Amino acid sequence: MAGTLYRWLDDRLRLTPLEHTLLDESIPGGASWIYVFGSATLFLFCLQATTGMFLALYYVPSPDAAYDTVQFIQQEVPFGWFVRGLHHWGASAVMVAVGLHLLQVYLYGAYKRPRELMWMVGVGLLLLMMGFGFTGYLLPWDQNAYWATQVGTNMVASVPGVGDFLVRVLRGGDTLGALTLSRFFAVHTLFLPALMVCGIVAHLFILRRVGPAGPWSVDQARQRSEPFYPRQVSMDAMVMLGVFVLVAGLAWTVEFPLADRADPADHTFTPVPEWYFLFFYQFLKYMSGPLEPLATWVLPGLFILGLMLWPFLDRNPERQPSSRPVALASGAVFLALIFTLLGISLRERYALPTLDPSVARGKALFARQHCMACHRIHGDGGKVGPDLSYVADQRPDRQWHLRHFRDPSSVSPGSIMPAFPLAEKDLNDLTSYLLSLKSGTPTSPGTRAAGRHAHPQEDNA
Ligand code: HEC
Repeated sequence: MAGTLYRWLDDRLRLTPLEHTLLDESIPGGASWIYVFGSATLFLFCLQATTGMFLALYYVPSPDAAYDTVQFIQQEVPFGWFVRGLHHWGASAVMVAVGLHLLQVYLYGAYKRPRELMWMVGVGLLLLMMGFGFTGYLLPWDQNAYWATQVGTNMVASVPGVGDFLVRVLRGGDTLGALTLSRFFAVHTLFLPALMVCGIVAHLFILRRVGPAGPWSVDQARQRSEPFYPRQVSMDAMVMLGVFVLVAGLAWTVEFPLADRADPADHTFTPVPEWYFLFFYQFLKYMSGPLEPLATWVLPGLFILGLMLWPFLDRNPERQPSSRPVALASGAVFLALIFTLLGISLRERYALPTLDPSVARGKALFARQHCMACHRIHGDGGKVGPDLSYVADQRPDRQWHLRHFRDPSSVSPGSIMPAFPLAEKDLNDLTSYLLSLKSGTPTSPGTRAAGRHAHPQEDNA
Protein backbone atom coordinates (compact mmCIF):
# COMPACT_ATOMS: atom_id res chain seq x y z
CA MET A 1 0.00 0.00 0.00
CA ALA A 2 2.68 2.46 1.05
CA GLY A 3 4.79 1.18 -1.83
CA THR A 4 2.01 1.86 -4.35
CA LEU A 5 1.48 5.36 -3.00
CA TYR A 6 5.21 6.02 -3.13
CA ARG A 7 5.40 4.86 -6.75
CA TRP A 8 2.39 7.03 -7.64
CA LEU A 9 4.01 10.11 -6.04
CA ASP A 10 7.42 9.24 -7.46
CA ASP A 11 5.95 9.19 -10.98
CA ARG A 12 4.70 12.71 -10.51
CA LEU A 13 7.26 14.35 -8.22
CA ARG A 14 10.38 12.38 -9.19
CA LEU A 15 11.27 11.72 -5.57
CA THR A 16 14.04 9.16 -6.02
CA PRO A 17 16.80 11.57 -7.15
CA LEU A 18 15.78 13.95 -4.36
CA GLU A 19 15.98 11.12 -1.86
CA HIS A 20 19.52 10.37 -3.02
CA THR A 21 20.56 14.01 -2.72
CA LEU A 22 19.07 14.35 0.73
CA LEU A 23 20.09 11.08 2.31
CA ASP A 24 23.24 9.87 0.59
CA GLU A 25 25.46 12.85 1.44
CA SER A 26 28.66 11.27 2.60
CA ILE A 27 30.08 12.03 6.02
CA PRO A 28 33.87 11.82 6.16
CA GLY A 29 34.97 9.62 9.03
CA GLY A 30 31.42 8.30 9.51
CA ALA A 31 28.39 9.29 11.60
CA SER A 32 29.01 10.63 15.10
CA TRP A 33 27.17 11.98 18.12
CA ILE A 34 29.40 15.03 18.04
CA TYR A 35 27.65 16.28 14.87
CA VAL A 36 24.13 16.44 16.34
CA PHE A 37 24.09 19.99 17.74
CA GLY A 38 23.28 21.66 14.44
CA SER A 39 20.18 19.55 13.92
CA ALA A 40 19.21 19.99 17.58
CA THR A 41 19.33 23.75 17.04
CA LEU A 42 17.28 23.49 13.86
CA PHE A 43 14.72 21.35 15.66
CA LEU A 44 14.44 23.84 18.51
CA PHE A 45 14.01 26.69 16.04
CA CYS A 46 11.06 24.80 14.52
CA LEU A 47 9.64 24.24 18.01
CA GLN A 48 9.93 27.97 18.73
CA ALA A 49 8.25 28.81 15.43
CA THR A 50 5.36 26.43 16.12
CA THR A 51 4.74 27.40 19.74
CA GLY A 52 5.13 31.06 18.76
CA MET A 53 2.36 30.73 16.17
CA PHE A 54 0.00 29.38 18.81
CA LEU A 55 0.93 32.12 21.29
CA ALA A 56 0.23 34.70 18.57
CA LEU A 57 -3.37 33.46 18.39
CA TYR A 58 -4.07 35.13 21.73
CA TYR A 59 -1.31 37.67 22.27
CA VAL A 60 -2.07 41.34 21.60
CA PRO A 61 0.96 43.64 21.30
CA SER A 62 -0.33 46.75 23.05
CA PRO A 63 0.64 48.09 26.48
CA ASP A 64 -3.02 47.91 27.56
CA ALA A 65 -3.56 44.33 26.53
CA ALA A 66 -0.21 42.52 26.34
CA TYR A 67 0.06 41.62 30.01
CA ASP A 68 -3.56 40.51 30.23
CA THR A 69 -3.37 38.36 27.13
CA VAL A 70 -0.25 36.62 28.42
CA GLN A 71 -2.00 36.07 31.73
CA PHE A 72 -5.00 34.75 29.81
CA ILE A 73 -2.76 32.33 27.91
CA GLN A 74 -1.21 31.27 31.20
CA GLN A 75 -4.44 30.81 33.14
CA GLU A 76 -7.43 30.34 30.85
CA VAL A 77 -6.39 28.90 27.50
CA PRO A 78 -6.34 25.08 27.67
CA PHE A 79 -2.66 24.09 27.82
CA GLY A 80 -1.74 27.72 27.22
CA TRP A 81 0.65 27.58 30.18
CA PHE A 82 2.30 24.54 28.59
CA VAL A 83 2.73 26.15 25.18
CA ARG A 84 4.13 29.28 26.81
CA GLY A 85 6.41 27.06 28.91
CA LEU A 86 7.65 25.28 25.77
CA HIS A 87 8.37 28.63 24.15
CA HIS A 88 10.15 29.91 27.25
CA TRP A 89 12.30 26.86 27.91
CA GLY A 90 12.76 26.30 24.18
CA ALA A 91 14.38 29.73 23.97
CA SER A 92 16.88 28.76 26.66
CA ALA A 93 17.47 25.39 25.01
CA VAL A 94 18.20 27.04 21.65
CA MET A 95 20.93 29.09 23.30
CA VAL A 96 22.48 25.98 24.84
CA ALA A 97 22.27 24.06 21.54
CA VAL A 98 23.78 26.94 19.57
CA GLY A 99 26.54 27.27 22.14
CA LEU A 100 27.43 23.59 21.89
CA HIS A 101 27.27 23.71 18.09
CA LEU A 102 29.62 26.68 18.03
CA LEU A 103 31.97 24.97 20.47
CA GLN A 104 32.11 21.82 18.36
CA VAL A 105 32.77 23.74 15.14
CA TYR A 106 35.45 25.78 16.89
CA LEU A 107 37.16 22.81 18.50
CA TYR A 108 37.18 20.86 15.23
CA GLY A 109 38.45 23.84 13.24
CA ALA A 110 35.49 23.23 10.93
CA TYR A 111 35.33 26.94 10.06
CA LYS A 112 38.56 26.78 8.08
CA ARG A 113 38.84 26.91 4.33
CA PRO A 114 36.57 26.16 2.44
CA ARG A 115 33.88 26.70 5.12
CA GLU A 116 34.54 30.36 6.00
CA LEU A 117 31.24 31.52 4.49
CA MET A 118 29.32 28.87 6.36
CA TRP A 119 30.87 30.10 9.61
CA MET A 120 30.00 33.72 8.80
CA VAL A 121 26.38 32.86 8.03
CA GLY A 122 26.39 30.91 11.29
CA VAL A 123 27.56 33.94 13.27
CA GLY A 124 24.77 35.91 11.57
CA LEU A 125 22.29 33.27 12.75
CA LEU A 126 23.68 33.56 16.28
CA LEU A 127 23.07 37.32 16.23
CA LEU A 128 19.53 36.79 14.97
CA MET A 129 19.02 34.36 17.83
CA MET A 130 20.10 37.03 20.32
CA GLY A 131 17.68 39.37 18.58
CA PHE A 132 14.88 36.89 19.18
CA GLY A 133 15.81 36.72 22.86
CA PHE A 134 15.95 40.48 23.24
CA THR A 135 12.71 41.30 21.41
CA GLY A 136 10.79 38.40 22.91
CA TYR A 137 11.64 39.43 26.44
CA LEU A 138 9.64 42.66 26.17
CA LEU A 139 6.45 41.06 24.89
CA PRO A 140 4.82 39.99 28.21
CA TRP A 141 5.04 43.66 29.27
CA ASP A 142 5.73 42.90 32.90
CA GLN A 143 8.11 44.83 35.14
CA ASN A 144 11.09 42.70 34.19
CA ALA A 145 10.34 42.98 30.49
CA TYR A 146 9.94 46.72 30.64
CA TRP A 147 12.98 47.58 32.73
CA ALA A 148 15.35 45.04 31.16
CA THR A 149 14.46 46.44 27.75
CA GLN A 150 15.00 49.93 29.09
CA VAL A 151 18.53 48.91 30.04
CA GLY A 152 19.08 47.25 26.67
CA THR A 153 17.84 50.12 24.52
CA ASN A 154 19.71 52.70 26.59
CA MET A 155 22.95 50.88 25.98
CA VAL A 156 22.70 51.67 22.30
CA ALA A 157 22.54 55.38 23.15
CA SER A 158 26.24 55.37 24.04
CA VAL A 159 27.33 54.72 20.46
CA PRO A 160 28.86 58.06 19.44
CA GLY A 161 27.14 60.08 16.75
CA VAL A 162 24.32 57.75 15.84
CA GLY A 163 23.43 56.55 19.36
CA ASP A 164 20.36 58.71 19.87
CA PHE A 165 19.14 57.94 16.41
CA LEU A 166 19.54 54.20 16.99
CA VAL A 167 17.65 54.35 20.27
CA ARG A 168 14.80 56.13 18.54
CA VAL A 169 14.77 53.47 15.84
CA LEU A 170 14.67 50.74 18.49
CA ARG A 171 11.93 52.43 20.49
CA GLY A 172 9.96 53.82 17.60
CA GLY A 173 9.91 57.16 19.41
CA ASP A 174 11.26 59.04 22.39
CA THR A 175 10.02 56.68 25.05
CA LEU A 176 9.56 53.00 25.54
CA GLY A 177 5.86 52.56 24.88
CA ALA A 178 3.15 51.36 22.53
CA LEU A 179 5.24 51.86 19.41
CA THR A 180 8.16 49.98 20.94
CA LEU A 181 5.96 47.04 21.77
CA SER A 182 4.42 46.73 18.30
CA ARG A 183 7.86 47.21 16.78
CA PHE A 184 9.41 44.48 18.92
CA PHE A 185 6.48 42.22 18.16
CA ALA A 186 6.80 42.74 14.40
CA VAL A 187 10.54 42.17 14.54
CA HIS A 188 10.15 39.10 16.74
CA THR A 189 7.44 37.44 14.65
CA LEU A 190 7.99 38.69 11.08
CA PHE A 191 11.40 40.21 10.38
CA LEU A 192 13.60 37.90 12.40
CA PRO A 193 11.87 34.66 11.34
CA ALA A 194 12.14 35.69 7.67
CA LEU A 195 15.84 36.52 8.04
CA MET A 196 16.37 33.38 10.07
CA VAL A 197 14.85 31.13 7.41
CA CYS A 198 17.00 32.75 4.70
CA GLY A 199 20.06 32.33 6.92
CA ILE A 200 19.29 28.69 7.67
CA VAL A 201 18.76 27.98 3.96
CA ALA A 202 22.09 29.66 3.13
CA HIS A 203 23.85 27.77 5.95
CA LEU A 204 22.53 24.41 4.76
CA PHE A 205 23.07 25.25 1.10
CA ILE A 206 26.74 25.88 1.79
CA LEU A 207 26.92 22.72 3.86
CA ARG A 208 25.62 20.71 0.91
CA ARG A 209 28.01 22.41 -1.51
CA VAL A 210 31.19 21.88 0.51
CA GLY A 211 30.09 18.86 2.55
CA PRO A 212 30.54 18.32 6.29
CA ALA A 213 34.02 18.87 7.69
CA GLY A 214 34.32 15.52 9.43
CA PRO A 215 37.03 14.62 11.95
CA TRP A 216 40.03 16.90 12.44
CA SER A 217 42.50 14.22 11.47
CA VAL A 218 42.87 14.04 7.68
CA ASP A 219 43.81 10.36 7.82
CA GLN A 220 40.72 9.49 9.78
CA ALA A 221 38.55 11.44 7.37
CA ARG A 222 40.07 9.64 4.37
CA GLN A 223 39.96 6.20 5.91
CA ARG A 224 36.25 5.80 5.82
CA SER A 225 33.06 7.68 5.13
CA GLU A 226 29.42 6.85 5.51
CA PRO A 227 26.18 8.21 4.03
CA PHE A 228 24.02 10.56 6.08
CA TYR A 229 21.25 7.93 6.14
CA PRO A 230 20.65 5.83 8.21
CA ARG A 231 23.04 6.20 11.16
CA GLN A 232 23.51 9.97 11.32
CA VAL A 233 19.81 10.53 10.60
CA SER A 234 18.82 8.28 13.48
CA MET A 235 21.34 9.89 15.86
CA ASP A 236 19.97 13.32 14.95
CA ALA A 237 16.40 12.10 15.38
CA MET A 238 17.15 10.59 18.79
CA VAL A 239 18.74 13.80 19.99
CA MET A 240 15.76 15.82 18.75
CA LEU A 241 13.42 13.53 20.65
CA GLY A 242 15.61 13.83 23.75
CA VAL A 243 15.67 17.61 23.49
CA PHE A 244 11.90 17.71 23.11
CA VAL A 245 11.37 15.48 26.15
CA LEU A 246 13.67 17.72 28.18
CA VAL A 247 12.01 20.99 27.14
CA ALA A 248 8.51 19.53 27.56
CA GLY A 249 9.48 18.21 31.00
CA LEU A 250 10.68 21.63 32.07
CA ALA A 251 7.58 23.32 30.65
CA TRP A 252 5.37 20.84 32.46
CA THR A 253 7.03 21.04 35.86
CA VAL A 254 8.73 24.41 36.23
CA GLU A 255 6.32 27.29 36.16
CA PHE A 256 7.54 30.51 34.63
CA PRO A 257 5.56 33.24 36.36
CA LEU A 258 4.92 36.74 35.13
CA ALA A 259 6.27 39.57 37.24
CA ASP A 260 3.94 42.47 38.03
CA ARG A 261 2.47 44.46 35.19
CA ALA A 262 4.96 46.96 33.71
CA ASP A 263 4.90 50.24 35.61
CA PRO A 264 6.91 52.92 33.75
CA ALA A 265 6.73 55.18 36.84
CA ASP A 266 8.41 52.69 39.15
CA HIS A 267 12.08 53.58 38.85
CA THR A 268 13.00 51.47 41.87
CA PHE A 269 12.52 48.23 40.02
CA THR A 270 15.68 46.24 39.33
CA PRO A 271 15.24 44.01 36.30
CA VAL A 272 16.86 40.65 35.82
CA PRO A 273 17.72 39.70 32.24
CA GLU A 274 17.57 36.19 30.84
CA TRP A 275 20.42 33.97 32.03
CA TYR A 276 22.13 34.09 28.64
CA PHE A 277 22.50 37.87 28.98
CA LEU A 278 23.52 37.71 32.66
CA PHE A 279 27.28 37.55 32.04
CA PHE A 280 26.99 40.73 30.01
CA TYR A 281 24.82 42.41 32.63
CA GLN A 282 27.45 41.62 35.24
CA PHE A 283 30.17 42.99 32.97
CA LEU A 284 28.19 46.23 32.60
CA LYS A 285 28.20 46.65 36.36
CA TYR A 286 32.02 46.71 36.45
CA MET A 287 32.21 49.12 33.57
CA SER A 288 30.39 52.10 34.99
CA GLY A 289 31.44 55.70 34.51
CA PRO A 290 33.91 56.58 31.76
CA LEU A 291 34.46 52.89 30.98
CA GLU A 292 30.82 52.35 30.13
CA PRO A 293 31.03 52.82 26.33
CA LEU A 294 33.67 50.12 26.35
CA ALA A 295 31.11 47.65 27.63
CA THR A 296 28.05 48.93 25.84
CA TRP A 297 29.38 48.98 22.31
CA VAL A 298 33.19 49.00 21.81
CA LEU A 299 33.97 45.51 23.10
CA PRO A 300 30.72 43.89 21.91
CA GLY A 301 31.27 45.43 18.46
CA LEU A 302 34.88 44.25 18.29
CA PHE A 303 33.89 40.84 19.54
CA ILE A 304 31.20 40.36 16.91
CA LEU A 305 33.50 41.61 14.18
CA GLY A 306 36.28 39.32 15.37
CA LEU A 307 33.96 36.34 15.56
CA MET A 308 32.64 37.04 12.08
CA LEU A 309 36.13 37.28 10.60
CA TRP A 310 37.64 34.55 12.73
CA PRO A 311 38.29 32.13 9.83
CA PHE A 312 40.52 34.83 8.29
CA LEU A 313 42.18 35.85 11.55
CA ASP A 314 43.10 32.29 12.41
CA ARG A 315 45.53 31.62 9.53
CA ASN A 316 46.74 28.29 10.86
CA PRO A 317 45.65 25.67 8.28
CA GLU A 318 45.84 22.81 10.80
CA ARG A 319 42.61 21.44 12.27
CA GLN A 320 44.18 19.04 14.80
CA PRO A 321 43.69 20.67 18.26
CA SER A 322 47.25 19.87 19.32
CA SER A 323 48.56 22.10 16.49
CA ARG A 324 46.32 25.07 17.37
CA PRO A 325 47.39 26.15 20.87
CA VAL A 326 46.64 29.86 20.32
CA ALA A 327 43.13 29.39 18.96
CA LEU A 328 42.19 26.90 21.66
CA ALA A 329 43.74 28.94 24.46
CA SER A 330 41.87 32.09 23.40
CA GLY A 331 38.65 30.11 23.20
CA ALA A 332 39.25 28.69 26.67
CA VAL A 333 40.05 32.11 28.17
CA PHE A 334 36.90 33.54 26.64
CA LEU A 335 34.75 30.72 28.02
CA ALA A 336 36.37 31.04 31.45
CA LEU A 337 35.56 34.77 31.49
CA ILE A 338 31.94 34.23 30.47
CA PHE A 339 31.35 31.53 33.04
CA THR A 340 33.10 33.48 35.80
CA LEU A 341 30.87 36.49 35.13
CA LEU A 342 27.80 34.27 35.00
CA GLY A 343 28.86 32.61 38.27
CA ILE A 344 29.40 35.93 40.06
CA SER A 345 26.10 37.23 38.78
CA LEU A 346 24.19 34.18 39.99
CA ARG A 347 25.94 34.25 43.35
CA GLU A 348 25.10 37.91 43.86
CA ARG A 349 21.48 37.26 43.01
CA TYR A 350 21.10 34.38 45.41
CA ALA A 351 23.15 35.98 48.18
CA LEU A 352 20.57 38.74 48.47
CA PRO A 353 17.98 38.21 51.17
CA THR A 354 15.62 35.79 49.56
CA LEU A 355 11.91 36.08 49.79
CA ASP A 356 10.44 35.06 53.13
CA PRO A 357 8.70 31.73 52.37
CA SER A 358 5.73 32.80 54.45
CA VAL A 359 5.25 35.81 52.12
CA ALA A 360 5.46 33.55 49.08
CA ARG A 361 2.85 31.16 50.51
CA GLY A 362 0.69 34.15 51.40
CA LYS A 363 0.89 35.46 47.86
CA ALA A 364 -0.22 32.07 46.54
CA LEU A 365 -3.10 31.98 49.05
CA PHE A 366 -4.13 35.46 48.00
CA ALA A 367 -4.54 34.12 44.47
CA ARG A 368 -6.23 30.90 45.53
CA GLN A 369 -8.75 32.63 47.83
CA HIS A 370 -9.72 34.97 44.98
CA CYS A 371 -8.97 38.10 46.97
CA MET A 372 -8.32 39.68 43.55
CA ALA A 373 -12.04 39.54 42.85
CA CYS A 374 -12.47 42.54 45.14
CA HIS A 375 -8.98 43.99 45.69
CA ARG A 376 -6.43 45.36 43.30
CA ILE A 377 -2.68 45.26 43.70
CA HIS A 378 -0.62 47.36 41.31
CA GLY A 379 -3.43 47.66 38.84
CA ASP A 380 -4.68 44.08 38.90
CA GLY A 381 -7.98 43.01 40.42
CA GLY A 382 -11.45 44.25 41.33
CA LYS A 383 -12.57 47.51 42.84
CA VAL A 384 -15.12 46.31 45.42
CA GLY A 385 -12.63 46.56 48.28
CA PRO A 386 -9.76 48.99 48.88
CA ASP A 387 -6.60 48.91 46.77
CA LEU A 388 -4.06 46.83 48.69
CA SER A 389 -0.88 47.82 46.78
CA TYR A 390 0.50 49.56 49.87
CA VAL A 391 -1.84 48.22 52.55
CA ALA A 392 0.96 47.80 55.11
CA ASP A 393 1.54 51.56 55.11
CA GLN A 394 -1.88 52.08 56.67
CA ARG A 395 -2.24 48.81 58.52
CA PRO A 396 1.09 47.56 59.84
CA ASP A 397 -0.52 45.60 62.68
CA ARG A 398 -0.53 41.83 62.29
CA GLN A 399 -3.22 41.31 64.94
CA TRP A 400 -5.56 43.69 63.14
CA HIS A 401 -5.36 41.59 59.97
CA LEU A 402 -5.85 38.31 61.82
CA ARG A 403 -8.98 39.65 63.53
CA HIS A 404 -10.16 41.16 60.24
CA PHE A 405 -9.88 37.82 58.43
CA ARG A 406 -11.80 35.94 61.10
CA ASP A 407 -14.56 38.55 61.32
CA PRO A 408 -14.20 41.67 59.13
CA SER A 409 -17.03 43.58 60.77
CA SER A 410 -15.41 43.25 64.22
CA VAL A 411 -12.67 45.73 63.20
CA SER A 412 -14.38 47.38 60.26
CA PRO A 413 -18.03 47.84 61.16
CA GLY A 414 -20.47 47.21 58.34
CA SER A 415 -17.80 45.51 56.20
CA ILE A 416 -19.10 43.45 53.32
CA MET A 417 -15.86 41.49 53.03
CA PRO A 418 -16.56 37.82 53.75
CA ALA A 419 -14.81 36.20 56.72
CA PHE A 420 -11.93 33.86 55.90
CA PRO A 421 -11.88 31.31 58.72
CA LEU A 422 -8.72 29.61 57.44
CA ALA A 423 -6.16 27.68 59.48
CA GLU A 424 -3.96 29.78 61.79
CA LYS A 425 -0.89 29.16 59.63
CA ASP A 426 -2.65 30.19 56.42
CA LEU A 427 -3.93 33.41 57.98
CA ASN A 428 -0.41 34.14 59.20
CA ASP A 429 1.05 33.62 55.73
CA LEU A 430 -1.65 35.75 54.16
CA THR A 431 -0.90 38.49 56.66
CA SER A 432 2.85 38.24 56.05
CA TYR A 433 2.14 38.85 52.40
CA LEU A 434 -0.07 41.86 53.13
CA LEU A 435 2.56 43.30 55.47
CA SER A 436 5.13 43.03 52.66
CA LEU A 437 3.01 45.36 50.55
CA LYS A 438 4.39 48.74 51.44
CA SER A 439 5.71 51.61 49.43
CA GLY A 440 9.44 51.77 48.79
CA THR A 441 10.01 48.03 48.42
CA PRO A 442 10.44 46.20 45.12
CA THR A 443 6.98 45.31 43.90
CA SER A 444 7.62 41.87 42.59
CA PRO A 445 8.71 39.15 45.00
CA GLY A 446 9.06 36.85 41.99
CA THR A 447 12.02 38.79 40.69
CA ARG A 448 14.92 39.35 42.97
CA ALA A 449 17.19 42.27 42.52
CA ALA A 450 20.31 41.67 40.47
CA GLY A 451 22.60 43.90 42.47
CA ARG A 452 23.83 47.35 43.19
CA HIS A 453 23.91 48.91 39.76
CA ALA A 454 20.24 48.93 38.94
CA HIS A 455 19.74 50.34 35.49
CA PRO A 456 22.87 51.38 33.71
CA GLN A 457 22.10 54.75 32.16
CA GLU A 458 18.57 54.65 33.32
CA ASP A 459 18.59 58.43 33.56
CA ASN A 460 18.43 58.32 29.81
CA ALA A 461 14.96 56.82 29.95
C1 HEC B 1 -16.37 40.14 48.27
C2 HEC B 1 -15.29 41.08 48.15
C3 HEC B 1 -14.03 40.85 48.96
C4 HEC B 1 -13.22 39.74 48.98
C5 HEC B 1 -13.40 38.44 48.22
C6 HEC B 1 -12.11 40.06 49.84
N1 HEC B 1 -12.27 41.32 50.35
FE1 HEC B 1 -10.96 42.30 51.57
N2 HEC B 1 -12.24 43.86 51.71
C7 HEC B 1 -13.44 43.97 51.02
C8 HEC B 1 -14.08 45.22 51.42
C9 HEC B 1 -15.42 45.72 50.90
C10 HEC B 1 -13.21 45.84 52.36
C11 HEC B 1 -13.43 47.17 53.08
C12 HEC B 1 -14.14 46.92 54.41
C13 HEC B 1 -13.22 46.26 55.39
O1 HEC B 1 -12.20 46.85 55.76
O2 HEC B 1 -13.51 45.14 55.78
C14 HEC B 1 -12.06 44.96 52.50
C15 HEC B 1 -10.97 45.22 53.29
C16 HEC B 1 -9.81 44.50 53.33
C17 HEC B 1 -8.62 44.87 54.03
C18 HEC B 1 -8.40 46.13 54.79
C19 HEC B 1 -7.88 47.17 53.85
C20 HEC B 1 -7.74 48.52 54.49
O3 HEC B 1 -6.91 49.28 53.91
O4 HEC B 1 -8.44 48.80 55.42
C21 HEC B 1 -7.71 43.87 53.82
C22 HEC B 1 -6.29 43.81 54.33
C23 HEC B 1 -8.34 42.88 53.01
N3 HEC B 1 -9.61 43.28 52.71
C24 HEC B 1 -7.72 41.70 52.58
C25 HEC B 1 -8.38 40.71 51.87
C26 HEC B 1 -7.81 39.45 51.55
C27 HEC B 1 -6.39 39.01 51.91
C28 HEC B 1 -8.74 38.73 50.87
C29 HEC B 1 -8.63 37.30 50.36
C30 HEC B 1 -8.35 36.31 51.40
C31 HEC B 1 -9.91 39.57 50.75
N4 HEC B 1 -9.65 40.75 51.37
C32 HEC B 1 -11.05 39.19 50.08
C33 HEC B 1 -13.97 43.08 50.13
C34 HEC B 1 -13.42 41.82 49.86
